[in-house]
Amino acid sequence: MFKRVPGTRDILPDQIKQWQKIEQVSRRVFSLYNYLEIRPPLIEESSLYQRSLGDATEIVQKQMFLIQKGEDSYALRPEGTASIVRAYIENNLDKTGNLFKSYYMGPMFRMERPQKGRYRQFHHIGCEVIGSRSPELDVEIIALADQLLCSYPVKGYSIVINSLGCADDKKRLTAQLREKLQNSLSDLCDDCKVRFEQNVLRILDCKNEKCKEIVQKLEMRDGHLCDPCRGHFETVKAGLASLNVKFEVSSNLVRGLDYYTGTVFEIKHDNLGPQQDALGAGGRYDNLVSELGGPQTGAIGFAFGVERLILASESPLTDAEPEKLVYLISLGDTAKKQGVIVLNTLRNAGIPADTDYEGKSLKGAMRKANDLKAPFTLILGDNELQKNTIVVKNMGNGEQKEISMTDLVKYLSA
Ligand code: HAM
Repeated sequence: MFKRVPGTRDILPDQIKQWQKIEQVSRRVFSLYNYLEIRPPLIEESSLYQRSLGDATEIVQKQMFLIQKGEDSYALRPEGTASIVRAYIENNLDKTGNLFKSYYMGPMFRMERPQKGRYRQFHHIGCEVIGSRSPELDVEIIALADQLLCSYPVKGYSIVINSLGCADDKKRLTAQLREKLQNSLSDLCDDCKVRFEQNVLRILDCKNEKCKEIVQKLEMRDGHLCDPCRGHFETVKAGLASLNVKFEVSSNLVRGLDYYTGTVFEIKHDNLGPQQDALGAGGRYDNLVSELGGPQTGAIGFAFGVERLILASESPLTDAEPEKLVYLISLGDTAKKQGVIVLNTLRNAGIPADTDYEGKSLKGAMRKANDLKAPFTLILGDNELQKNTIVVKNMGNGEQKEISMTDLVKYLSA
């Protein structure tokens, strides 16, 4: 028997309602903020990710699903931001003169060690805005993330924000950190010893207990920020406060991808398992568009992990009232043939309808109608066929009525 690839999951029909609900709510909220959907491909040239996420990042070094075809190297997308910036530049969207406000949903792929809340194929719901450095846009993006969570609804999360500052500030932060960590180097975990050389900022959010302890004593503040970046961050914080969006500032929040500058944020939740606590994350990447060959322009976005949204939700994220189905029971071969036409008529009139294709007895078919919580069961036998009628049973009160076939749609719609 074939098994699914470790770290992938089948989203089965009895789970799909949760997914559809999250997607539907997201589309609604994104449209309130005037974001339009974008669907970039699932594969890109692997060098796109090396360039944008950074050669020394964990994703590029260890987690990319690579496909080598002759000279060409492709990767299954590990995230959406790089593709969207590539699409923005390639499709000349910078030339439209409009702020580009986009959202996306779909699978991402990372070669991780699978565990609760961490998969090799997982799903993002995210957004990217390209074309502005306005701090009010940072406020909009974080408020949008907050409104999405309230609308799903997910409770008990916290929004943590920080500012990495501009490229020069990041260099300053890196240098400060190297200096502060120099004496603790031998106590860091093996991964952080490598990070010290290649990507020292990542030590700040290492999950190893010993590293966390060392980092907590560092007392990083925002001393690395230049005046304009400090001003930007102050405006963002004041803007969030004016909207009553609750947030904490943590100078240890640095994010794992190289493209970030300025405001970064993460949304944490306790229900996600011991190894991860982020429901979603994002931030500014004001240099990425130009680094990938586009204009020098500001950009910001975030992505939620859908599997983690579902894990964090206390009750199933489904509609209270699923759409009601009418169940048809056709008794005998002639009735079965006529039943196909009845079903077709109902569906064309917008009434969800189904029937038995498994040769169930009348009792078995009634049980099925009960399982499906059908409000009405239709019974069609030779008797009804002759009179061009059908029996409609109200499953709520057990009442049966014989209705003329021509009145059926009208009757059920009422
Ligand atoms: P990220 O932090 O790598 O950021 O991923 C965003 C979210 O995806 C995480 O907070 C988590 O909820 C979910 N996630 C990540 N990896 C996995 C996994 N292996 N299994 C399940 N869920 C996972 C980004 O990808 C950035 N592109 C976000 C962004 C958009 N920044 C700016 N714009």
